[in-house]
Amino acid sequence: MKTDSHGGNIYKKAKELGLDQSRLMDYSANISPLGLPDHIREAMISSLDGIINYPDPECMALREAIARADGVKEWQITCGNGGADLLYRLAFGLRPGRVLLPAPAFVEYEEAMTVGGAVMDYYLMQDDFMIREDLIPMIGEDTDLVIICNPNNPTGLLTPRDLIVKILERAREMHCRVLVDECFLEICREEDRCSLRPYVDRYENLIILKSFTKLYAVPGVRLGYIICSDPEVIERANRAGQAWSVSTIAQAAGLAALAHPEYKDAVIKEVEKELKYMKEALAALPLKLYDGQANYLFFRAPGVTDLDRRLEEYGIMIRNCSNYVNLGEDYWRVAVKTRQENEHFLEVLKKILTSPDLSCRQGSAPE
Ligand SMILES: Cc1ncc(COP(=O)(O)O)c(C=O)c1O
Repeated sequence: MKTDSHGGNIYKKAKELGLDQSRLMDYSANISPLGLPDHIREAMISSLDGIINYPDPECMALREAIARADGVKEWQITCGNGGADLLYRLAFGLRPGRVLLPAPAFVEYEEAMTVGGAVMDYYLMQDDFMIREDLIPMIGEDTDLVIICNPNNPTGLLTPRDLIVKILERAREMHCRVLVDECFLEICREEDRCSLRPYVDRYENLIILKSFTKLYAVPGVRLGYIICSDPEVIERANRAGQAWSVSTIAQAAGLAALAHPEYKDAVIKEVEKELKYMKEALAALPLKLYDGQANYLFFRAPGVTDLDRRLEEYGIMIRNCSNYVNLGEDYWRVAVKTRQENEHFLEVLKKILTSPDLSCRQGSAPE
């Protein structure tokens, strides 16, 4: 068991606030606003009879379906107990000595890599939180792994594919691998333009991380995978964990998800609509909003370091971003949910941010 350094811990927060979990509105975890689709729910229920056997350790049917959906080969895929499990498998399987990470980025990268013995080197993104070409010369002979989160968590900003290709080129010259985390990319309209999947065969040093969690609203199921054309990476990731890391229920969920490719578009459309709605509403509030492209938004509320506690009074959880490298205490990330939820959230947020005591604090915040 690990203590939490992420959003989404409704269990602890409900206990802390003395509330029933169902009364919390969780804007701190970024899950599809459409919730769990019926076809996945039904497939998981039907799979229950099979749990008297160990799950298929090689996830054969699931890898076949993923290979078809992602246009890669089955042997280039290995599945795990969520994307997070694969980060630890890579940390222990590859044992990178030095890892270069543009910051801020998903906290689990550092947690996994450092427990595997890595030293982290940071590319500190400037105020606009974009990765630029000056990252490239930072990849040196002693860099073993570069991690690019695309779109970035927590900012939601995308890194152009041609820049990632340049990073791959330089990394290849330096005998360095590049992990591109596309866990949120599927939920973005920009997926086809930004995904590195078409480059898997060309770059053996490319590892793509993907997850079923966000798009299909199954964070409690735990299902993710990596794609890589270097068989050694697949082999080492496989050996760095137990044989049955993907449950029978998770494999059934993944197969059902991929059997209904049209569902993905419904999620993308819904996210696009609500993202636009939330951006317009947030732009009218006294905060610095970033132009995120995924199902969450990132902003700075200058001088406001207790926004989470103020929202908790209304039963709303958001993600304080102060435990990300390169971010201060007044940076926040919020999910994009259903229209009804978003209306309520925005109404409460506006009330808080325009209350007289906060307005004067914001005025005196350093830039
Ligand atoms: C950027 C990013 N990558 C990977 C993951 C891991 O997701 P999971 O372990 O649920 O598949 C997360 C979870 O929040 C994430 O934010």
